[in-house]
Order: sequence, then C-alpha cells, then structure tokens
Amino acid sequence: MDSLTSESISEPNTIFLKNYTVPAYRVDTVILDFDLRETKTIVRSELKIHRNPESHASHHNLELNGQNLILLSIELILATGSQWLTENDYVIDDETLTIANVPNEFVIKITTEINPKENLALEGLYLSSNMFCTQCEAQGFRRITYFPDRPDVMSLFTVTIHANQDQFPILLSNGNKIDSGVESDNRHWVTWQDPFPKPCYLFALVAGDLYCKQDKFMTASGQTVDLYLYVEHENNHKCDHAIVCLKQAMKWDEDTFGREYDLDNFMIVAVNDFNMGAMENKGLNIFNSSCVLASPETSTDADYYRIQGIIGHEYFHNWSGNRVTCRDWFQLSLKEGFTVFRDQQFSSDMNSAAVQRIDDVNILRNAQFSQDAGPMAHPVRPQEYIEISNFYTVTVYNKGAEVVRMIHTLLGESNFRKGSDIYFERHDGQAVTVEDFVAAMESGSDSTNGSKINFDLKQFMNWYHQAGTPNIEFKEHYDAKKNSYSLTLQQSCAATPGQKIKNEFHIPIRVALLNLQGKTISLDLDGEDNCTNVDECILELKAKEQVFTFNNVQSKPMVSLLRGFSAPVKILTSRSRLELAFLFANDSDDFNRWNAGQELALDIILSLVKQHKAGAKLQLDDDYIAAFKKTLCNDYLDNALKAQALSLPSESYIADQYQAGDYADTDAIHHVRIFVRQQLAKHLESDLLRVYQLSTLIGDYQFNAKDMGLRSIRNCCLAYLMELNNNNYYQLCADQFKQSNNMTDVMAALELLTNYENAYQADCLQTFYEQWQNDALVIDKWFAIQAMSRLPGTLDKVKTLLNHPAFTIKNPNRVRALIGRFCLGNIAHFHNEDGSGYQFLADQVLLLDKLNPQIAARLIQGFSQWRNYNENRQELMKNNLNRIISVDNLSKDVFEIVSKTLA
Ligand code: BES
Ligand code: ZN
Repeated sequence: MDSLTSESISEPNTIFLKNYTVPAYRVDTVILDFDLRETKTIVRSELKIHRNPESHASHHNLELNGQNLILLSIELILATGSQWLTENDYVIDDETLTIANVPNEFVIKITTEINPKENLALEGLYLSSNMFCTQCEAQGFRRITYFPDRPDVMSLFTVTIHANQDQFPILLSNGNKIDSGVESDNRHWVTWQDPFPKPCYLFALVAGDLYCKQDKFMTASGQTVDLYLYVEHENNHKCDHAIVCLKQAMKWDEDTFGREYDLDNFMIVAVNDFNMGAMENKGLNIFNSSCVLASPETSTDADYYRIQGIIGHEYFHNWSGNRVTCRDWFQLSLKEGFTVFRDQQFSSDMNSAAVQRIDDVNILRNAQFSQDAGPMAHPVRPQEYIEISNFYTVTVYNKGAEVVRMIHTLLGESNFRKGSDIYFERHDGQAVTVEDFVAAMESGSDSTNGSKINFDLKQFMNWYHQAGTPNIEFKEHYDAKKNSYSLTLQQSCAATPGQKIKNEFHIPIRVALLNLQGKTISLDLDGEDNCTNVDECILELKAKEQVFTFNNVQSKPMVSLLRGFSAPVKILTSRSRLELAFLFANDSDDFNRWNAGQELALDIILSLVKQHKAGAKLQLDDDYIAAFKKTLCNDYLDNALKAQALSLPSESYIADQYQAGDYADTDAIHHVRIFVRQQLAKHLESDLLRVYQLSTLIGDYQFNAKDMGLRSIRNCCLAYLMELNNNNYYQLCADQFKQSNNMTDVMAALELLTNYENAYQADCLQTFYEQWQNDALVIDKWFAIQAMSRLPGTLDKVKTLLNHPAFTIKNPNRVRALIGRFCLGNIAHFHNEDGSGYQFLADQVLLLDKLNPQIAARLIQGFSQWRNYNENRQELMKNNLNRIISVDNLSKDVFEIVSKTLA
C-alpha cells in the first residue's frame, strides 16, 4: 500500500459548520466480523448502501473515512454480479478511500487489518490490560474499518466476534446476543444484533476474561431489563455502588423525563486505559474504571459522588444522544449539554440540591469562565474546528448545561417537560440540530399546548452562537414616597476570537427582595402579571439596559440577585462588605448565601494581595473572622453546605479576577490565601477543633448526604488546623490517617500531611504505597497527592516519580494523576517564575503527542491563560508553545490548541 505512506506537511484543515451537506450515501445495514488477535486483527465489513435521495451531490463517488488501516480487499456486489476492486478502481490517502461512479444501490465488502496492541491513542479498537475494547466517539470507528464516519449516517449493526476461548471468554457488542459457537484452534464466536439504527460512533466491542455482576430492573411498563457490570476479577468487590446508581438512574429518568429503557439488557464494562470518563455506546457503556469501581476502603466520597453522576450521565444518553442523536459534531452540546443538565438534576435529586448547584457553579467559574475569556473561547455550538476531540470542553458541556437550565428556568418545570417529550417523540431515530431542540422546547410552551405563555427563543439562540461570558451591572433606586424600588440592569460582553461584536443575550435573572430581617418581601413587579404576590421572580433581561420597578415596597430592600445562579454571567457591580456579610448570614437562597460569602472572601483577598505587593503588613478583617465563626458554629446549617461556605475561592478563580494589564501574581495570591487560612485558624482554633471532634462518625462507611456532610466539615476543620503548623495537629492528622476505615478520611489526612514539613509524611506515604500497590486507582491517588503538594521541591519530586516503577505514560489516569495534577492543579508550582514548570509541561506534551494526542492536547491547556501572567512568565510560556509548534508531524489535536493559543 505505497500510497498510504505519503506524508503531507501542510497545515491541517479546518472544518466549518456552514459547509455541512447531507451524506451522499446512506448505509442501511452493517455486518461486521472481527477475528481478534493482539497485533493482527482482521475486520470484515459488509455494508448495504443506497444513494441518499436528499443529496444534491453532482458526483457518484463513495467516500469512506479510514485511518491507520491496512486495506486487504474490496468487493463490490451489484445487481449484475460481484467484482473485486483493484488499486485502479479507488483512490486512497491518509484519511479517505474514494470509489468513483458507484451505482445507486449496492453492497460493499471491505477487509482491513488493524493492530490493537500498538494502538496507544486509545481510539478505535485497542488492548487494555488483556482485554480488547473500543472507543469510537467522535471519530474512532474509522480506525477500525472504512466507513462514512459521521453521526448522520445511521445503520443497523450485526457483529460477530471470534477470539481465543481461554483468554477471552466474554465477547460483547451492542444489542442482543443472537448466536454463538466454537471453532477450531480453541476459539469461539458470538454474534450480536442491535435492533436500533445508530451512528457508528455508538458501536462498541469488548473481549476479555471478566467477572460479571448481575442484577435486574423492572421498567414502569413492566419490562424486565437484565443489568450486567463487567470488571476484572480482582475488582469483583467494587461493583455494588455502580449497580445501585444505575437502578436509581433508570428509575429517575422514568419519573422525571418519562423515558424508559428500550433493550432487554444493559451492560457496563470497566476498562483501565481510557481517555475520557465513560462512553454511552448503545446498550454497552464502557467506563474508565475510575468512574465506576468503588469500595469504602479505596474510594472517596468524591469518587462515589462522581460515579453516581457519570453512571446517570451515560445512561441518560440512551435518549439524549442515542435515540435522538447529533446531525454533525458541531451539535455536540445538543447531546452533551442536555445530558449534563440531566445528570446534574439527577445528582441534585439524589443528594443535596444546594451542594450540587454550588459544585456545578464552581466548575463553571473556575474553568469555563476562563476558557470564555481566553484564546480557545468558542460558542456552545462552535462554528469551526480542526480536531473535534478538542471541543469536548467545559463550554460545550457545562455552559451547554447552563443554557438548557435557562430554558428550564424560562419555561418552568412543566412546560420544559412538555418540550422534552415533544423533542424525543418528534425526533426519535433522527440525527438533529440545536435548532430542532430549541424548536421543540418552544412548542412545549406553546399556548395551543394548554399553557398561558408562548415562548419565543429566537434571541435566546445567541447563547448557542456567541462565545464569551456576559457581564451584568446593576443600579438600585428606592423611592420612599412612591414605595417603589427599581432595579436597572445592563448587559455587555467582551469580544472573543473571531467575534468582535456581540448581540444582546436573553438572560433570565431570578430575584427576590429581602427585608432587614432577611425575609423575602412579596413582589409586585410593575406591568408583569406573572410576578405579583410571589417571593421571587424571573426578570428577563433582553436589551442592553432595562429598568424593572417593584411597587408596594415599604422600606429600602436588600436585593438577592441571580438566585440559584440563574444564568452563566458575571455580576460586575460590587457590593459593600456590609451588604455581603448580611446576605452571607441571611439570604434565603442557599446558593446566594454561599455566593455572598465567596464574594466577601474574594474582596478581602484581592485587597490583601494589593497590600502584600506594596510591602504592607497584612491583617485580616475582624468582621470577616466574626462572619466565618458564625457560620462555623451554626448548628442549624447543613454540614456539607457549611464546608462549602468555609472554603475560600480557589487560587485559579482569584487569578482570573485580574484583567489584561493588571497581571495575576500567582505567588502573592498563593501567599495571601494561605495567610487568610492561617489567621482564621489562629483566631478560631478551639471552635475548629470542637467541630472536628463533634463531627466524628462511628461505624461502617455509608454513602449518603448526611455522612458525607459530616466527613466534609470534619476534614475542612482539620485542614484549617493544619495551617497552624503545630505538631499536635500533625499528630492528629497522622492518627486520622492510621485509624480511618474509609478512603475519604485517609486521603484527606494524607493530602494534608504532604502539604507541610512534618515527621509523619514520609512514613504515611510509604505505608499507603505498600498497602495499595496492587490497586491502580489508589496508586493514582498516591501520585496525585504528591503532585499537588505545596511544599518546595515538588517539581523535582514529580520528575523523580516519572521514573517510579509504577509510573507509565501509556495509562491516561496515571498521566492525569502525576503530570496533569501538577500542571493543571498546582498553580503555584507550575507557574514558578523560573519557567521550570513550563519546560516540564512542554517536554511531556511532546513525548505524549507521539503516543496519545488527545491526552497531550488536554495537558497543553495549562498554557491557555498565558496572557494573564506577567511579562517574564508570558515570555517563558510563549517560548515553550513555540518550541512545540515548530516540531514536525504534530497531531492535529496539539497543533490546533497550540496554534490557537498563540494566535
Ligand atoms: N460521550 C462522552 C464520552 C466521550 C467524550 C467520548 C469525548 C469521546 C470523546 C460521554 O458521554 C461523556 O460526556 N463523558 C464525560 C463524563 C460526563 C459525566 C460529563 C467524560 O468522559 O468526561
Ligand atoms: Zn456525555
């Protein structure tokens, strides 16, 4: 295959949404046959193809995608007979196989050879710990066989797998097992058939020697579904949680969205080498083992919580993604944004709504807002990409979920549900667009549908088209004579790459007015029937500036704005510390109460940073200490919420507050944040210790909101006490490490011990390693803890750990644990003024790009905020970015991120 070797050195192509055309050919059925061998797997594919009558293409060329394939044969079967194609009958390059002048209906049989063992990119078919598995989203199927690898080509799949019986007793694919048998050479085979048409990105195959945990679920309409969780034998004790979560998710989707499962079985497989968290392949979800396996001794509350959310997420895709899928990859948020919204609501219903909301907003503010303000800013529906893998972003996912949430807020629960029913019914079996989703939602609020309102979401579409975080400013005016209170709201949005001018967004702003006791005042919004006699209402900000007037307000109120974070915006108008302290103590909206505390802390930290840079002696505001104490000692507050309220804004969120020209000084931020924590600990030591001791749990570990709350407030107190650099607390921490029966408390203690010079650290790390050296997921934690340490010399430690026998660059979880945590999670060390962190990242990215481009491209985003740092750091980061971009044969993944970051 000489034509395969020609290397092109030109820059990779950009794909544009505006160039979308319907597929020229459709594939009705796909029959696949896999002869699985580690280095030489033979894939036979038989496609029944017909020309798409909707296509306006003038040519009759069949274009199939293919990558890293060895083509063995092509046979065309026509009504008139069959024909083996020779090299003169087709054109082949690195990415495409083109066959000219095909008829309107035919069958094509293609045989390819692939090498799963050498596949370290973990896209397509690969080997992971002695098992074969696949990852086809977004464009991995083309690494298995030649195919129109695009989500708007949907086909019925029948899959036969052949493999060695002893090594691979379990052979799985989508749908139902319809046949099986044994054959020569100690091999066996199984045939699977999926009754639902699907795009090839939802195809999956697994072969291995696996333990299976079984259960059943009875659907609302009385169908029994067999549930199977496949894991490595040694993990058979880590299955219970995932099964509980799966059943919760199945029930929840019936109750909340009226969506039932549609196959006789549902399978989940845990694999050790996986680029992402998990994948929603039809009837056969594949999970990163870190996102499904759990036991009290090895998994933290955060792990349990995440597993619940992700099991829900992938399960919910069965409707929002699989039954109704995306027309093209620009529509990714159609399935991901909607499904993240669904998994957030699920977690919220299963646990604490306020805690969930705060966590979600933290992700948005800590990661999405900075993406929206940086060189990789893109709309929830991007208009162009080079490599689609780079667009599985916090913008598409988390801002996308916020956009769906705003529709939910605007329409209200019941109209939203009507809209979603219409969406699923109208588009079942189709590959659709964001417009189709929004149109269905509009129909949900249609007055002919029995409801009062009739929502026009035309202007709302700007949330999908425009990048950037809108800024809100507000002015208040209380008129004591008229007893009226008016609120003037303004919106603006800064330019983003490729989008200079922004149109106004349609922004739902949930408000309440509070009296001096902090109680809500009954509202009477001028000219708005929907907002009379209610405690809170939604203001719809659609213009650049709007005035909202409330009547019958007896005294000057305190406004509680953007309750529940009703829109992904920044409020620029600052409030006095007095007002913030009042809201922190009194706001009846849990989210806003927390938020006021964060704003207060932020205000204090930002002014301390200024003082610190001016060389002044720092002092922490007494009122803040008092407010903090009041929260800490409030026995009526939910413990998990309390822990969130007592956590200071993250270093990266603080750094994001600095705009160009006023660079974030990461050293000063780091210093001040620790100073504030130390002062709080010093002044409130006895309270912290008391709450620590009172929050001690006895008995077995349980995953429930109450116990999680206790563990989180207890570990929060311990973390403050550790700031006192007092051996008693080091001892307390070491005791907790030794005596705890659960990983949440063990990890919390070990993490703290690695952040301070103390006599226990080395021993505890060593004990931990020895105890868990055979459990990869726990060893990931061991690497991560050390990479996150704030002690000096951490980078050297990380470099030493790269040579540890347990480190491997081939496993994404391990890379994320060591390199990822250092470069993306240890802000202070990564941004060391000497540039050592930057050099380290660039070196690792260049190494990884040859093996796993997706993981390399994730890591390189450590540089994406380079313009927010001082000139010296900018120069150092830029040099490393240039060093990368000048290397030949970069992957598209890394090329796109680096070139856009530098642009
Ligand atoms: N469809 C994605 C998995 C995926 C992402 C495949 C990118 C290929 C490329 C899956 O549904 C997903 O979104 N997984 C998330 C977790 C989820 C809880 C947000 C993930 O893997 O991080
Ligand atoms: Zn998803």
